[in-house]
Amino acid sequence: MVFFRSFSALSKLRSHLVQQSSLNGSVRWLQIQSSSDLDLHSQLKELIPEQQERLKKLKSEHGKVQLGNITVDMVLGGMRGMTGLLWETSLLDPEEGIRFRGLSIPECQKLLPAAKPDGEPLPEGLLWLLLTGKVPTKEQVDALSKELRSRAAVPAHPMTQFATGVMALQVQSEFQKAYEKGISKSKYWEPTYEDSLSLIAQVPVVASYVYRRIYKNRQVIPKNDSLDYGGNFAHMLGFDSPEMHELMRLYVTIHSDHEGGNVSAHTGHLVASALSDPYLSFAAALNGLAGPLHGLANQEVLLWIKSVVNECGKNITTEQLKDYVWKTLNSGKVVPGFGHGVLRKTDPRYMCQREFALKHLPEDPLFQLVSKLYEVVPPVLTELGKVKNPWPNVDAHSGVLLNHYGLTEARYYTVLFGVSRAIGICSQLIWDRALGLPLERPKSVPMECSGCHWRGQRVFQWNGLKITARNQP
Ligand SMILES: CC(C)(COP(=O)(O)OP(=O)(O)OC[C@H]1O[C@@H](n2cnc3c(N)ncnc32)[C@H](O)[C@@H]1OP(=O)(O)O)[C@@H](O)C(=O)NCCC(=O)NCCS
Repeated sequence: MVFFRSFSALSKLRSHLVQQSSLNGSVRWLQIQSSSDLDLHSQLKELIPEQQERLKKLKSEHGKVQLGNITVDMVLGGMRGMTGLLWETSLLDPEEGIRFRGLSIPECQKLLPAAKPDGEPLPEGLLWLLLTGKVPTKEQVDALSKELRSRAAVPAHPMTQFATGVMALQVQSEFQKAYEKGISKSKYWEPTYEDSLSLIAQVPVVASYVYRRIYKNRQVIPKNDSLDYGGNFAHMLGFDSPEMHELMRLYVTIHSDHEGGNVSAHTGHLVASALSDPYLSFAAALNGLAGPLHGLANQEVLLWIKSVVNECGKNITTEQLKDYVWKTLNSGKVVPGFGHGVLRKTDPRYMCQREFALKHLPEDPLFQLVSKLYEVVPPVLTELGKVKNPWPNVDAHSGVLLNHYGLTEARYYTVLFGVSRAIGICSQLIWDRALGLPLERPKSVPMECSGCHWRGQRVFQWNGLKITARNQP
């Protein structure tokens, strides 16, 4: 066994880990894995319900326990010392450094399987450790390496191509060039401004290229300098009706910004806080936007609406629609386009698209279905009992408008959202640099943690489920 440097070293370490468990909760459930089960997925299937139970208990028994005060300094200071995240896989001690599932780096080097005797740990072994909290055998790591190899073929969604295109623009970053030359902090905002405006100007070109490349036989349409931003974008996509130009203007305007905490904006802000230039930061934001609970919901809505029509036909009754909504919920899925992390009433971005539809396409059958959903879904979600906002959001409406004017490829919709988001995210990035906002770095803790402290600030301690707050000397 390559990774067992010696049995006695291992048992010594094991007993050390048991001792450690009283000091650092996250190693409490760490075990040396038996070699019998090579399948990571089945290991997780076993572990997940156990941990879900722990989380539920933690929430119900200690949900109201305060973990500290939020000060203005913390908000202005990139969330320093603000415990705001649950992060199971590792814990960083300011003095001791990182522990992966409770194991320090030297311990990982001793315990994790290596490619050769006394060699460095295989990263696949660390992945296993992070996911399961257990040290894998060499056989388990080999099986995981094989699985990773079998998954390595690369497919590409339009959003992936778009994010890749934005990354390719990064070579021209003025900020990066200026930083390399040693630009002073007080001037950061200027090259950030240059990059941001260029990026905002160029994303419609990249996005329409992706569209034409995938769906229109690579026949790219050059920009038309006589048109405005939204009109030109519609033109490069291949849509030249005045209504579609109007729609694109409205679309780009309403999707541009939604304060800082949503996934794409927060990601862009977070990545930029490391002084990554606007291209790198915005490409990262796009990858957050591509998630189905965020920007990809616009794709999901149209596909879902079309699945309703496929199953129930065009003249669907209110009762049939209600049943379909329940069927979606009962199969463990969300109803896309409804609910919101912050809003507690109908999204005004939904309302202005509805007004657009009432003005330009009141007879469109999919618009009429969307209107019917506005009546049917909120009472059902309210009846479900746990949804904080049963009302429709921006994504519930956008697809049917685009579909009406011939932009029917739902898998492309989030790219349009992305073009618009460049405006909001890049505007804030300029301000981030102008205000000298710092590296963002909130504190994270695992469910089991003891002795958590941060730079002499008020700390808390929880051992298992016993939580006490105390002051750090
Ligand atoms: C947007 C969204 C992610 C907000 O999530 P959130 O802030 O956690 O929302 P809530 O606090 O209301 O969630 C409470 C519960 O209701 C569920 N819920 C919320 N919206 C729901 C919906 N549209 N359909 C079904 N269930 C929903 C949540 O999944 C959660 O269930 P859980 O406790 O079993 O995990 C959520 O409403 C959602 O998934 N909507 C559908 C996707 C969508 O339209 N996204 C675009 C948003 S602009």
